[in-house]
Formats: sequence, C-alpha cells, structure tokens
Amino acid sequence: MSGRIRFVNYPRQYQQHKKEFDGVFEEIMSGGDFILRRHLEVFEKRIAEYVGVKHAIGVNTGTDALYLSARALGFGPGDEVITVGHTFVATVGAIVQAGASPVLVDVRDDYNMDVDLIEKAITPKTRGIIPVHLNGHSCDMDRVMGLARRYNLRVIEDAAQALGAEFKGRRCASFGDTAIFSFYPAKMLGTLGDGGMVCTNDDNLARTLSAYRDNGRVDSVEVIECYGWCTRLDNFHAAILNMKFSHFGEWVKRRRELARIYDKGLEGVGDISIHPVSGGDYFDVYQNYVIRSGRRNGLVKYLRESGVEALISWPTPLHKQKALGLERFHLPKTEQISAEVLSLPMYPELTDEEANTVIEKIKGFFCESRLERAGNF
Ligand SMILES: Cc1ncc(COP(=O)(O)O)c(C=O)c1O
Repeated sequence: MSGRIRFVNYPRQYQQHKKEFDGVFEEIMSGGDFILRRHLEVFEKRIAEYVGVKHAIGVNTGTDALYLSARALGFGPGDEVITVGHTFVATVGAIVQAGASPVLVDVRDDYNMDVDLIEKAITPKTRGIIPVHLNGHSCDMDRVMGLARRYNLRVIEDAAQALGAEFKGRRCASFGDTAIFSFYPAKMLGTLGDGGMVCTNDDNLARTLSAYRDNGRVDSVEVIECYGWCTRLDNFHAAILNMKFSHFGEWVKRRRELARIYDKGLEGVGDISIHPVSGGDYFDVYQNYVIRSGRRNGLVKYLRESGVEALISWPTPLHKQKALGLERFHLPKTEQISAEVLSLPMYPELTDEEANTVIEKIKGFFCESRLERAGNF
C-alpha cells in the first residue's frame, strides 16, 4: 500500500463500478429524461419501502428537505424548535429560515441529543423537535417520540447521516412527522453532486411537500396549488442513486467491518476514546468513524503530514459562530466534543490494509510524543 489515504475516495468507487456509472449516463442521455421522470419515481419508492414509510419525496439537498419540512409543519415566527448545537448548520438554519427560534440542547457521549435535557427546554412556545442521528447512529427515538406525544410537538428527524441505521429494529426516518436524508457525495448513499429527500407517513404532508418542491404543482403543471420552490431531485441523480442503492446492503456491511477493525486496533491507544460501540437497541451504519482525544489538533496535523486525511466536524460549535446569534446557549459537552473529535477515513472502498495503516499512524503519534516527553527529562 502506498500513497495518501483519502478521507473519501470517489475515483476509486468510480473505477470499481465504472461500467454501471457509465451505463447510467448513457441511459439518461439516450432517453432525455431529466426532470421528475421514471428514475426519480422508482428511487422514491425504493427508499420509502426500505425505510418503512408511505412517502419519500426527492429534493435538491438535505438542507432543502429540512427547510421544506419546517415550512410544511407550520413552524414560523413565535415558535420554538428544539435541536442540538453539535450538528451541521443546516439543521438549525432550517428553523431560522422558517422564521422560528432554535433552542439548542447539549449532546451525550454518543454525539446525539441528550434526551434528558429535552423536557427542561420545552416552553409554551415549543412546537417541534429535530433530533439528529449523527454519524449513522440513531437517537433514542422512544424518548423523543414519547415527549413529542406528551407535549403535542412535531418531529423532524435529521437522518442526513443515517440511511440504514436502526433503533430497536426500526429504521431511522420512520419515526418522525417527517424525516430527511442527504445524498451529498460523501454520505452513506451519495450522488455526483447534491441531493436530498423527505420521508413521511402523512398523506397531506406528502402532498404539501411535493407541491413545495415544484413551484406548487403536484398532479398537473397547469394547476398551481400554492407558492413553492424549485428544489427537485434531478432524474439523473436519482438514476445514479438507484444504481448505487443496489450495492447499499453490502456497503453498510463493509462499513461495519471497518469499524470493527478500528475498534480493535485503537482500543487503549494513547488517550483515545474510540467510536461508541454499536449494539443493543442500536444498529449503526458508520457514516463516520469518530474518535476523541485531548491531543486532537496535534494528532490531526500528524496524520495529515503522514498521508492520512482526517476531518474535524466541527471545530467551532454553532453557538460559538458569531454570525449565527446563538451565544445564549450553554452547551459544555458540545464544546468539549468540538475540541476533541476527529473523523477517520471510512467508506466501503477503504481496504483493511489502509485501515490498519491509519491505526499504525495513530499509534505512531502517541509513541513519538511519549518518547519526546521522555527526552525532556
Ligand atoms: C446532520 C446533517 N444535516 C443536514 C445536512 C444537510 O445536507 P445537504 O448537504 O445535502 O444539504 C447534512 C449534510 O452535511 C448533515 O450532515
């Protein structure tokens, strides 16, 4: 094995499935099927069936899926919506763009919403909760949905990172009033650009969301049911996603195998906390393999210099981003996690040898720094 170990290796995936990728391009170009066509319909049906919901509506991005959900559920001025600060900005952005106020609660060591903090954050203005299933690990959806029912709140599951993940044998995105996926290239199932999806069991919400994504049109281009947006999942992307989805089961299995290699190899190394181990009520799909270290910044620098791409999500928590106006929230765990987390290369095309090289490099970092410290005496 030689060369850099990429964080995600798109060219390798293309080489491994070149015929299939090229076949999709040829099929779409030959048919001229670009907008709201058969491939999209097929993909929506497949995802709805896989997740276990009635409707799946393809949109432009996960960001739009969140925003359209917030609008369809009627979140607006004067409303509060509870979510976490340890997430991609789009989760909070959707609440703000809809005109409502985000209320951020802290996370637990599994990087997901601390469900013990939800009830304290509920006020007479609270209308909804957006749990985020981060890194391909489900939130405790029994607790989230129980509280939602008790306080009459609507739930949007942010499952952007969790296609295939399960809680108590049920797939993420099948619990909430709506749920969203992202098909950004690096995601569990990624397209060749941007893509997203909203899932729901509610027929009325599904109709509203379908109208929102296509300028108010659902069954006919002649009849406009409401003002909407133009945020459709392109038929080409749907065709690519259909092709990739036929490999999805084996890809999830491979991610879980790689996670076991990292778990085993990194246990007890330096001050590392390995990725929370999957099991029990949780079936994890490892969108990301995340470790924590008090010496994270030095470790990232060392890895990058020795040819391993590692990523920090997110070094500055949202409530410390000055432009967002979220400074009022006190999120000590989020801050600690932001200072310590590091995501390692994790994708189905990563070889065992490469995963073992990543482990050896990490061991090398802690070994070298121990020797350096010893040399100081
Ligand atoms: C947790 C989470 N929510 C929402 C999004 C937004 O998805 P997209 O990039 O498709 O807009 C992402 C994507 O990074 C995400 O990770």
